Amino acid sequence: MKITFYSSKKYDTDSFKKHNLENYELEFLESSLTQESAALSKWSDAVCVFVNDRVDAKIIDILKKNWVKLILLRCAGFDKVDHQYAATQWIKVMRVPMYSPHAVAQHALWLLLCANRNIHTANNRVKKNNFTLDWLIWSDIQDKTIGIIGTWLIWAIFAKMMHWWFGCNILAYDIVQSEELISLWVKYTDLEDLFTQSDIISLHCPLFPSTKNMINKQSIEQMKSWVMIINTSRWELVETHDILDGLDQGKIWYFATDVYENEQNIFFTDHEDKDLKDPVLKKLQEHPKVLLTPHQAFLTHEALDQIAKTTFVNIKDFIKGNESHNYVL
Ligand code: NAI
Repeated sequence: MKITFYSSKKYDTDSFKKHNLENYELEFLESSLTQESAALSKWSDAVCVFVNDRVDAKIIDILKKNWVKLILLRCAGFDKVDHQYAATQWIKVMRVPMYSPHAVAQHALWLLLCANRNIHTANNRVKKNNFTLDWLIWSDIQDKTIGIIGTWLIWAIFAKMMHWWFGCNILAYDIVQSEELISLWVKYTDLEDLFTQSDIISLHCPLFPSTKNMINKQSIEQMKSWVMIINTSRWELVETHDILDGLDQGKIWYFATDVYENEQNIFFTDHEDKDLKDPVLKKLQEHPKVLLTPHQAFLTHEALDQIAKTTFVNIKDFIKGNESHNYVL
């Protein structure tokens, strides 16, 4: 079995080599998966891709010509893979739905806490000998209402931290309700109610046509003034210009995000001193009420180990024809 890895970083090479107990042949390419680099999958049984590798029909056709039979996502989200087209070409798609929900939930918490007290701004000021407190005042989190959209693994950890540690009220919205916490202290509600009552809104649902742009002009108008929005899921859940308008008008107090709409060509690479020619990103980078991190929520040692281990289990299940919940159908 030969597997070609795209968008590989050193931490991928390290963790996949460490957990390669079956001695599969692994080839690590730094390049993302593009129509050009897809040709390098020749003689591979599988390709392994990451969150920003777009695997569309044209790329699937090239993989098919190269006799690739399996696309392994070393991540949970599968919104950039045309898995329905892959199925028509008899190529299976597998993902790692669960590796460390703690990692993402904890990152959402750090984003919330840093944004709430403007820690990054304070730190930057102090480094420049500016010890003023202007614009650093904000509220206690205790007793605030947190609205969480998407309630599977990550949300449950995030919701527990916010309720047990900080005494927040939790409102939740999902198309499927979690029985685990419902009777205790989580109140499921509809989206309109969540938008109107929440002081802080955190997005934890996948990107689907039904969730795309769910945070838009209309939903922002329903929200409380000075709402904080946290996005550790996928950028496209928000409507970019409506978010920027909400920030400029002061309706949104803070927007803290680990994801960005054009991150595919920008994130995970050092572009220091380059003009990225991306006016929206520039606006976000310069906006005093935006906290942006480079899609790092998943990145803990534990998560990397689990991603590699699960990917190898996926390969084994594929080879043996075992049933698995990790197939993207
Ligand atoms: P998940 O993505 O499997 O599902 C979350 C929940 O969303 C489910 O309970 C599902 O019923 C719900 N959902 C589906 N359609 C919905 C809709 N229309 N409205 C409301 N809820 C809906 O769960 P998980 O693992 O909690 O991940 C959440 C998201 O976080 C992922 O989809 C992924 O995009 C993102 N993620 C980001 C990472 C990062 O490093 N920033 C790392 C891992 C995941």
